[in-house]
Amino acid sequence: MKERLQLSVNDEDYDVVVDGSKTLLEVLREDLRLTGTKHGCELGECGTCTVLVDGEPVLSCLLLALDIADASIRTIEGLAAGSAPHELQITFGELGASQCGYCSPGMLVSAAALLERSPRPEGQEIREFLSGNLCRCTGYLKILEAIELAANRVADRREAGELDPEHRMPQRPAAEHGPDLVPVEGKRGSA
Ligand code: FES
Ligand code: FES
Repeated sequence: MKERLQLSVNDEDYDVVVDGSKTLLEVLREDLRLTGTKHGCELGECGTCTVLVDGEPVLSCLLLALDIADASIRTIEGLAAGSAPHELQITFGELGASQCGYCSPGMLVSAAALLERSPRPEGQEIREFLSGNLCRCTGYLKILEAIELAANRVADRREAGELDPEHRMPQRPAAEHGPDLVPVEGKRGSA
């Protein structure tokens, strides 16, 4: 049965009519055309469909869109601020933490949530927080290093007073990153 649904995604309000049985993943990709969030197993096992709902990483393949109509959703498309990538997107590019890129949207939004709650997470904490996000390409080491590097850069800037301590989703101005550092999302296309 068709249902009317209002969603807040990446600070934009959407009003759509969708099949009431659709998952959040399906609504994001098929109705809102936000294809950065990827289909993986659709069984809650791979984490590639991860998005943030009220700041918490959730598996969008397991949630009915109708059940979260009042929540604030952030997807990989909302991680950067315009042309200014999130620090995590910069360090993933710098360290080669994204290869085929299929897991990267889920990894990045999960890592962004971690950075919001833990200023300088280290190896084991990062491993545990991202244990639901699987990667078949990188061996994880570069991903862990990229998250740690991004966290330390953001924490350094906060401590130096360059960022509002309450500022969420810290980005650098576009001019501060080199021309070769394409945001991770920009490499993948919309497969
Ligand atoms: S697609 Fe959702 S956990 Fe794999
Ligand atoms: S980069 Fe290919 S699955 Fe992670």
